[in-house]
Amino acid sequence: MNRAASHGAADGGAADGGAAGEPLLRVAGLRKVYNSGAERVEALADVSFTVEAPGFIGIMGPSGSGKSTLLHLLAGLDRPTGGEIFVAGQGVHAMNEVELTRFRRLRIGIVFQQFNLLGTMTALDNVMLPGVLDGRAESWLRPRAQSLLETLGLRERMHHRPDALSGGEQQRVAIARALLFEPKVLFADEPTGNLDSTTSKRIWTMLADLSRRHQITILMVTHEPAAAAHCGRVLILGDGRVTDDLDVGQHDSAWLASRYQQSAGT
Ligand SMILES: Nc1ncnc2c1ncn2[C@@H]1O[C@H](COP(=O)(O)OP(=O)(O)OP(=O)(O)O)[C@@H](O)[C@H]1O
Ligand SMILES: [Mg+2]
Repeated sequence: MNRAASHGAADGGAADGGAAGEPLLRVAGLRKVYNSGAERVEALADVSFTVEAPGFIGIMGPSGSGKSTLLHLLAGLDRPTGGEIFVAGQGVHAMNEVELTRFRRLRIGIVFQQFNLLGTMTALDNVMLPGVLDGRAESWLRPRAQSLLETLGLRERMHHRPDALSGGEQQRVAIARALLFEPKVLFADEPTGNLDSTTSKRIWTMLADLSRRHQITILMVTHEPAAAAHCGRVLILGDGRVTDDLDVGQHDSAWLASRYQQSAGT
């Protein structure tokens, strides 16, 4: 985001921080049980962690360990069975539907493996869409969306529809859309799951850069140690709990892969 792109705060569009002294993210005793028919699945048993300072955080764990469930709960897409979630001081677990809708649209960004772009709209219109839905003036929206797309290297592509964009370009459009309201926190569930390794690397580098330069906290679910090596910290989930909390520091993907295997017992 450049300067022109960061005028959302004055408009009331940007995240307004939380209560003084609250960490950016606080999860305490989080539990999620799915009941589908006679089946009962405890996806999260007891997850607790805190994020004090902006950073790029990876979430790893075997398939079925509850990574997507955790992200969905944090992003207010689903409700916990128990426990507390505070994002930028706001108690997500206690919000009603109207508050949740507003929270998702204005306070956080969400990026999925599927880019979820509207095929009939250009990249620019896709990025502007959450603002249109929120009743924002085009005079605010258009320059901001253009500026975000430029920041993500899509200056020449913004008038293309998704089917005329590569997978990596589509994901960058989705990331630009997620950043429209300057969220302090961005959630990404396997954002490079549909991309080749070169493009994936570009996206990881870009996310790390966004986090560092713009103080955005990014939580990224990933299977790949090479992705997690771009993070500063990696939480490992297993049996519905955080089984390890790694400080990545200068370590590389081989170190992460070995720590992950030890921790997950895979
Ligand atoms: N809507 C649902 N109804 C019932 N069970 C569910 C539902 N969503 C997820 N589960 C179950 O909860 C557990 C955790 O699922 P989740 O999708 O969070 O795992 P994950 O770690 O993201 O796995 P993957 O790496 O394969 O994406 C799994 O056992 C899954 O089958
Ligand atoms: Mg998942």
